[in-house]
Amino acid sequence: MLAPFVARGVLAHVVHLPAGDAALAEAWVDLGFGRVHAFAARDLAPLARAAPPDVAVREATREDLAIAERLADEEARFHARAPIWDAYLGDDTAAGTRRELEELIAGPDSAVLLASVDGRDVGMTTVSEPSGGPLFIPDGAIGIGTTAVFDDARGRGVGAALVDRALAWGREHERRHATLHFSTANATSRPFWTGLGFTPVLWHLMRVLDERLPWAHPQD
Ligand SMILES: CC(C)(COP(=O)(O)OP(=O)(O)OC[C@H]1O[C@@H](n2cnc3c(N)ncnc32)[C@H](O)[C@@H]1OP(=O)(O)O)[C@@H](O)C(=O)NCCC(=O)NCCS
Repeated sequence: MLAPFVARGVLAHVVHLPAGDAALAEAWVDLGFGRVHAFAARDLAPLARAAPPDVAVREATREDLAIAERLADEEARFHARAPIWDAYLGDDTAAGTRRELEELIAGPDSAVLLASVDGRDVGMTTVSEPSGGPLFIPDGAIGIGTTAVFDDARGRGVGAALVDRALAWGREHERRHATLHFSTANATSRPFWTGLGFTPVLWHLMRVLDERLPWAHPQD
């Protein structure tokens, strides 16, 4: 007898697991679950490293929407590649992404931050109210969202300069913490965020059941 939700085709099962309990994590791994997302947090102290002198970070305005959309698309395309393999929906999500960026730019408690090198816009991050369960969101937190630097500008401090400005934005808005999440399969994310002082506090574990299950099971 299948559980009704499995019979209806609910095959992707997700667990929110606080970090730091190895025995509990092992029990979920034994049940076939694996990590897919890390939720991380830190205080808002400025980064120890200074931004390179040719990198400038500013708050985007409506006039910057086109470049913000291109950088959001850069992040989505990166996540569509091995070994992350997120679905890329391109044109189907473009209008939603544009609306979201417009709202972040216009909202009093959010911002889109753009980084330029010698006047060319090459990177973006966003700050807003944090999303996620109270298990991992500390009091007075900002949420750092879509973050990307164009391929040819990576590895020279642009991402770190964006995060430093996001932390300053949080201090200016009288917050105390910053939170974010990243795909554990994203090999650049973990060293980037942990190198900038973020500590994983919660994992999303997932198990995807055999897609034949709704019809391939004993009938009695
Ligand atoms: C993640 C990303 C935004 C980092 O931007 P960046 O400008 O290249 O980062 P920085 O040059 O400021 O690097 C800061 C630190 O992060 C770490 N880091 C950055 N890229 C790394 C990589 N590929 N491998 C290992 N560590 C890395 C290093 O510790 C680095 O410090 P260092 O310069 O002293 O070595 C950029 O690689 C990117 O756009 N990736 C594709 C999209 C993406 O994964 N976005 C994040 C989604 S959560």
